[in-house]
Amino acid sequence: MWFLQVFVLIYLTTVCAAQDESVSPTSSVETDETFMPATAYANNPKVSLIRNLDYDKLYPEESIEFTCNVNVISEWKYEWYHNGMKIEGSSNKNYNIASVTHASNGEYECKVQRGEGPVYISNSISVQVADPPTPTLKLETPWSDVFKTEVLKFSCEVPSAEWTLTWYRDQHKLKEGPPLEITSVSDADGGKYTCKAQLTSRGVWSGPSNPVVISVYDRIPTPTLNIEPLFNPMYIGETVKLNCTVSVSSDWSYEWYRDGTPDPHKTGKEISIKVNLSDKGGYSCKAKRGEKTLTGRSNTVQLDVQEIPVPLLKPKTQWLDVFPSEGVELSCSMPGSSGWTFTWYKNPADDAKDTTTMSNEGESLSITNAKAMHRGKYTCSGKLKERFVSSKNSSEVTLYVYDEKPTVTLQQNPEDNLMHTSDYISFTCHVNVSSGWKYVWYKDKIPLDTSGIVHNISSAKTSQSGSYQCQVKRGAKTTFWSEKSQAVKLTIAERPKAGITLLTGWSEVFSTDSLVLQCDVDESNNWNYTWFKEDKELYSSLKYTVTPQDDPEQSLYTCQGFSDKRPLYSKPSDSYRTKNLLLKRRILLSISGCLFFGIIAVFIGCIALRIFRKPVAVGDKQQEPNLFLTMAQLKDRNDAPCPLVEYITDADLNPPDKEGEENGTSYNETTPLPISSPEEQAVTTNGKDTTENGGGMVSFLH
Ligand SMILES: *[C@@H]1O[C@H](CO)[C@@H](O)[C@H](O)[C@H]1NC(C)=O
Ligand SMILES: *[C@@H]1O[C@H](CO)[C@@H](O)[C@H](O)[C@H]1NC(C)=O
Ligand SMILES: *[C@@H]1O[C@H](CO)[C@@H](O)[C@H](O)[C@H]1NC(C)=O
Ligand SMILES: *[C@@H]1O[C@H](CO)[C@@H](O)[C@H](O)[C@H]1NC(C)=O
Ligand SMILES: *[C@@H]1O[C@H](CO)[C@@H](O)[C@H](O)[C@H]1NC(C)=O
Ligand SMILES: *[C@@H]1O[C@H](CO)[C@@H](O)[C@H](O)[C@H]1NC(C)=O
Repeated sequence: MWFLQVFVLIYLTTVCAAQDESVSPTSSVETDETFMPATAYANNPKVSLIRNLDYDKLYPEESIEFTCNVNVISEWKYEWYHNGMKIEGSSNKNYNIASVTHASNGEYECKVQRGEGPVYISNSISVQVADPPTPTLKLETPWSDVFKTEVLKFSCEVPSAEWTLTWYRDQHKLKEGPPLEITSVSDADGGKYTCKAQLTSRGVWSGPSNPVVISVYDRIPTPTLNIEPLFNPMYIGETVKLNCTVSVSSDWSYEWYRDGTPDPHKTGKEISIKVNLSDKGGYSCKAKRGEKTLTGRSNTVQLDVQEIPVPLLKPKTQWLDVFPSEGVELSCSMPGSSGWTFTWYKNPADDAKDTTTMSNEGESLSITNAKAMHRGKYTCSGKLKERFVSSKNSSEVTLYVYDEKPTVTLQQNPEDNLMHTSDYISFTCHVNVSSGWKYVWYKDKIPLDTSGIVHNISSAKTSQSGSYQCQVKRGAKTTFWSEKSQAVKLTIAERPKAGITLLTGWSEVFSTDSLVLQCDVDESNNWNYTWFKEDKELYSSLKYTVTPQDDPEQSLYTCQGFSDKRPLYSKPSDSYRTKNLLLKRRILLSISGCLFFGIIAVFIGCIALRIFRKPVAVGDKQQEPNLFLTMAQLKDRNDAPCPLVEYITDADLNPPDKEGEENGTSYNETTPLPISSPEEQAVTTNGKDTTENGGGMVSFLH
């Protein structure tokens, strides 16, 4: 029996020594305890703490069991400590935590005691409790907002390959295992994606990963094309930016089109073009993403490119040669275009390189008070506000400012200072420089109602004598006035009149058959005289002789003086009727006969009255008072107070002209003739006698 016990003891000891070196010394102690409790040990008993799971980390809810071993078998009393604090209610050799928490973190040890003996402390074991790792969900494809047919690929990162993955969309499990790939997105693929990992060997689940939200668009958008700046037209050299915008998502690549044709040289969301004429056209773009997604064509933006126009420089006022104080206005314009500002330059006329840039930026340049310093060649150029567009220079306009006011000269034609009534006089106003003048005329400093370069007097009157001047002006807004011309003094005298003198005296009447007339003009001049018969020019001489043979009709004669000095001609004389002249002679010849026949006629008349008075008729009585006219009646009656006179003046020769003659002739001596003959009256009424008596006269007439 004892032999058997010793054998078992030896066996146990060797097994223990093989298992754990640290235990091997205790085997003898145990043997001692069992067999020799009173034996005192050379060494203290060894207390070792072990645990059942040897993971670095525990995840919450896992369980763990500690075992406290003492190398001397005895009736040990166990106590458990967590972070130095005694764990109440634990007095077993084993300590079990069914579900660890973070509070379970820390150092664990156990203490053993036998009776009231010494306390032995185990080694400590550290327990680390950690949350399970959170996997990281990553979208491997570039876009979380996707279009149908696009590809989605997710990855889920976990600490080690021991973890297996499970995929979820909106909390619904999709599948297990890595990775998740959707090769052609459909509407249903939108949602919140997560993944979870499981440590299968220990049954530990991770928390859900970060979510990735995927949205799926209904349809592919159309890009919008913007142009900036949008001016119509753009000018060569300006830069435009075209911006192709797709309202959704990102990472597009772009294709550009001009007039529908793709332009492979243009890429990018925004293109910038320094425009030239050849860049005109309608631009549009398309956006592309991946291999599968291509948008439709954007709106088309028209780009119109033109050459920068050349400004047009024009004078607004009429003249480019002006006088001091005159105003000048130049205008610079861009025909058919607006929004320009202008720069004005003045170059000196002599091509010196001494340009002045005017401060004015407007369309017009005004010089209100021209001076010599304003002379020069003007030019302008245009600039577009807020754009980098500058035009070429306009053509030049040369402005000349005279040193002095113009000289105004008045010319009279003909030049004589003394003119005569009915003369034609023309005044001309000369300005020696420039043009565009308006003329103002003055007579005795009072403005005349004429304008124009000439002032004509077509038929001078004495009232038109005076001092003439002219002046010129021009300009619309501000009128420039010249000085007045020199004064031209004009005197208009009454034109002298010619007169006719009868040179044949009364005494010569019996001795000559002709009448001699002489023409005279009062004013002394070198006169030549011209005679007119009934307005027909006869000839020129001082005197004119009328003979019965020349003038059987007894015409009207006038004469007029002509000269080669002013006045060049006289007024014509009053007209002179030869009939009356010739009558003088005839009258004288008739006087004697007239007296004789007159007496006889009276007698015959008286006898005749006696004879015819007896049978007095009623009708005759009525006429009676008319036979003997009172003196007053006689005066009133023009017809024949003297029958002879009536005969001579009118009866045969020229009845209707009676009144005219009397007024028109200065030598009419018929009326006052005192001779009256009843004989003649009788003759007048009697045709035969007329012929007889007239015979003498006819002979004269012939
Ligand atoms: C392009 O246009 C969009 C919309 O007009 C604008 O928001 C964006 O700033 C523009 N991009 C550039 C670079 O001009
Ligand atoms: C514009 O185009 C014309 C021909 O169309 C070319 O001669 C000129 O050099 C171009 N100018 C610029 C600035 O590109
Ligand atoms: C226009 O003329 C001015 C003055 O001569 C000169 O300074 C300027 O350079 C010219 N500009 C152009 C665009 O020719
Ligand atoms: C105009 O006349 C003035 C005075 O006689 C003279 O000084 C000026 O030079 C003349 N101008 C011209 C252009 O002949
Ligand atoms: C004035 O007379 C001139 C000839 O001397 C003539 O040419 C001009 O037409 C006349 N002008 C007027 C307004 O009568
Ligand atoms: C006047 O008559 C003379 C002589 O016949 C002639 O030489 C002269 O030219 C005449 N003068 C005029 C103004 O007719």
